[in-house]
Amino acid sequence: MKITINEHQLPQSGALVASALQGGKLLATAKQLDKASKGAISKAIKASRFDGRKGQWLDILAPAGIGADRVLLGGLGEVKDIKPLGLEDFGGAALQRLASCGLKNMIIACDPITGAKGDPALSAASMAYGARLASYRFDKYRTKMKAEDKPSVTSLSVLAQSPAAARRHFKALEAIADGVFMTRDLVSEPANVLYPDSMAQQCRTLSKLGVKVEVLNEARMEKLGMGALLGVGQGSPRESLMVVMRWQGAGAKTKPVAFVGKGVTFDTGGISLKPGPGMEMMKWDMGGAGTVIGLMKALAGRKAKVNAIGVVGLVENMPDGKAQRPGDIVTSMSGQTIEILNTDAEGRLVLADALWYTQERFKPQFMVNLATLTGAMVIALGHENAGLFSNNDKLAQQLFDAGAEVDEGVWRMPLSDAYDKKINCAIADMKNIGGRDAGSITAAQFLQRFVNKVPWAHLDIAGVAWGDQGKPTVPKGGTGWGVRLLDRLVANHYEGGK
Ligand code: BES
Ligand code: MN
Ligand code: ZN
Repeated sequence: MKITINEHQLPQSGALVASALQGGKLLATAKQLDKASKGAISKAIKASRFDGRKGQWLDILAPAGIGADRVLLGGLGEVKDIKPLGLEDFGGAALQRLASCGLKNMIIACDPITGAKGDPALSAASMAYGARLASYRFDKYRTKMKAEDKPSVTSLSVLAQSPAAARRHFKALEAIADGVFMTRDLVSEPANVLYPDSMAQQCRTLSKLGVKVEVLNEARMEKLGMGALLGVGQGSPRESLMVVMRWQGAGAKTKPVAFVGKGVTFDTGGISLKPGPGMEMMKWDMGGAGTVIGLMKALAGRKAKVNAIGVVGLVENMPDGKAQRPGDIVTSMSGQTIEILNTDAEGRLVLADALWYTQERFKPQFMVNLATLTGAMVIALGHENAGLFSNNDKLAQQLFDAGAEVDEGVWRMPLSDAYDKKINCAIADMKNIGGRDAGSITAAQFLQRFVNKVPWAHLDIAGVAWGDQGKPTVPKGGTGWGVRLLDRLVANHYEGGK
């Protein structure tokens, strides 16, 4: 779908979205339409329960006297509550309603609102951004889709008061949406198509945006001593890989920020095999890595003034004659040894070496890792928030605030010596599981043993990487969760060379 931002002018055809405030007060475009149609809009409102509340919509087909083929009137709610996020939802919900309406052109009028806070150019850009995020589809494998199942809308024009300024805002937002889409694509791809090597190829496509991409193969990782990561991949015929992506948007002396992702392209559980039902979900066990890759795309795409490192550990966890066994002891790059008591607790093993490598090589200002790490996280927080674990209160607060700003919530969970003890082991430095209790926390304690004092946060995204429900700007399926949050973290605090 092509999106443009243009001057206000009533269209002569297409599906036009106009708006009203709570109480039914029509904004400029709706008012104009009402006049031109000799009151058809007001009449339609009277014939319905529409009163301009947020989330209310009224579809008016072919009103006489106006050019547009149909009008969708949306409620914006109360002026004091209007914020960029709500306008994104407005644009997203409008697009979802009209995408398959049969018309090709859609127009959203972003009218001035007296008394509203914020930059009107950003409001128009937010509506366009919301519509863009909502327009995502993953239907490349549906070869027999009927024409009526495909979206009809191919172009969207957002009408703004100051189109040039709105376009400038939208340009950066579009780059973020591109990153979100890349993550959604990666998460949606099945594991016969997306495996470590093909995922590394996807990373390489970022080089055209100026990202430096380096791929470490098994031989290289063996030399580096990454026994924890390599053990996970040893039951798969697919070679394990680690990909390092570097975006240099700030001066050479500025310390980088680092993002590390779990990229288990399929998690069968290994010899500690998972039960059959639902196992197909484990194609998105590379969601953490997917988010890191999408984030790097977003940062490079909008030329963020930051030095950012993205590191992803890519492995497939398979049961096989060569697979690692429960009871095996592996030596991680840090030198610490790990007794594998459950081969299904593999994400932490991949991250152990990826985190250690990242802090040792890049000495970053901070490391944030993302991982679909534990089923227990879904039990604790459901699909509404990701778990946040951190050794640094400032970083934790910055993540919490950024999450609230982009509607990707995080909720802080505890870390402490008492939990850490649960992974102590009699015959190695640690074991890879801590028992049923506090399963997400003991997993986080395990990771903390590999961060070596660097300010660090772990986001357990098991509950948020995939959505069965769908939201105005997040269609069902791969959500792309975390790209917007981490982009906002960077924009709020780590750009401008400090
Ligand atoms: N990838 C899973 C966690 C997961 C479960 C993510 C459901 C998304 C949805 C992870 O590798 C895993 O298997 N964790 C185990 C850990 C246990 C063996 C200590 C789990 O959560 O059961
Ligand atoms: Mn597992
Ligand atoms: Zn896993």
